[in-house]
Amino acid sequence: MINIVIDTDPGHDDILASLVALAHKEAFNILGFTTVCGNHLVDKVTKNLLNVLDYLNIDIPVYVGASKPLKRMPEPQGIVHGESGLDGPVFAECHKKASDISAVDFLYDKLKDNKLTIVALAPLTNIAELLSKHPECKDNIEQIVLMGGSVYSGNIQVKSEFNIYHDPEAAKIVFNSKVPIVMAPIEVCFAGGLNLSYIERFNKQNKVSKLVYNMLNYYSLYSLMHHMEDAIIYDMTTIIYLLHPEYFTIKKYNVDIELDGQYTRGMTVCEDIKDDSIINNPIDVLMDVDKEKFINVFFDAIDYLDKQY
Ligand code: RIB
Ligand code: CA
Repeated sequence: MINIVIDTDPGHDDILASLVALAHKEAFNILGFTTVCGNHLVDKVTKNLLNVLDYLNIDIPVYVGASKPLKRMPEPQGIVHGESGLDGPVFAECHKKASDISAVDFLYDKLKDNKLTIVALAPLTNIAELLSKHPECKDNIEQIVLMGGSVYSGNIQVKSEFNIYHDPEAAKIVFNSKVPIVMAPIEVCFAGGLNLSYIERFNKQNKVSKLVYNMLNYYSLYSLMHHMEDAIIYDMTTIIYLLHPEYFTIKKYNVDIELDGQYTRGMTVCEDIKDDSIINNPIDVLMDVDKEKFINVFFDAIDYLDKQY
């Protein structure tokens, strides 16, 4: 079992990733969730997370983080996640509240006497602030497993993925921190895409399946609009990697972050490692995954949670 903190901007795929983690208490001791502005404003993404945890009566603390990128303005992704940031499910009145302690203060406090893995599912603003304010805590970060970046594609711009694009300055700090990083780029997330025909599988009265069905029905609208056969549950890739690294192929690249450019703001520049490499920053990049095994981890996790809640 490993100690983890999930840094997140829920976001449909963030919640699905967290559900898979919650189904594996044998593997993860979730010390807390930290929220950050990304898919939507930090108040909305925090409310979304609190709603889900309250709905399932899960008593894991939530710490609110950055309300905007280090140097840029928020760019909420209503086109993907809706006006609330988690359109689809409807929740009763929420009784769970976030802690008064900030995300960075929580992370720093936990890292004083815990080794932990940070699972980063959002723009890296909180993590960059932590590393900038408290560089001494790096030694206790086992690794940062992050959904972000791309090897050659883009989902927000030609060559940029949203989490990195949204706060490229934060990403540059984190990627160059020398903390061990495992990067799950767009390409490997697409390799684990959920065929839209599978969504009906969750159309049942179990509490968790009902939540998943209502989330996926909304989240799949984006795929339908873009003539895609799969819903890409980006963030879930990080958790499934931690559970089953053997399902993935991994390649080390030298990686750095492009900060600006008409087409390249937030591009993760992935350079082959060779004697005359220009970039000197080796990062483990997930390249491919066994799709059937990947999806079955998701199905098994929801089946398990249906029996628990
Ligand atoms: O590009 C996909 C990433 O951006 C995911 O983390 C999704 O939740 C959004 O935050
Ligand atoms: Ca996310």
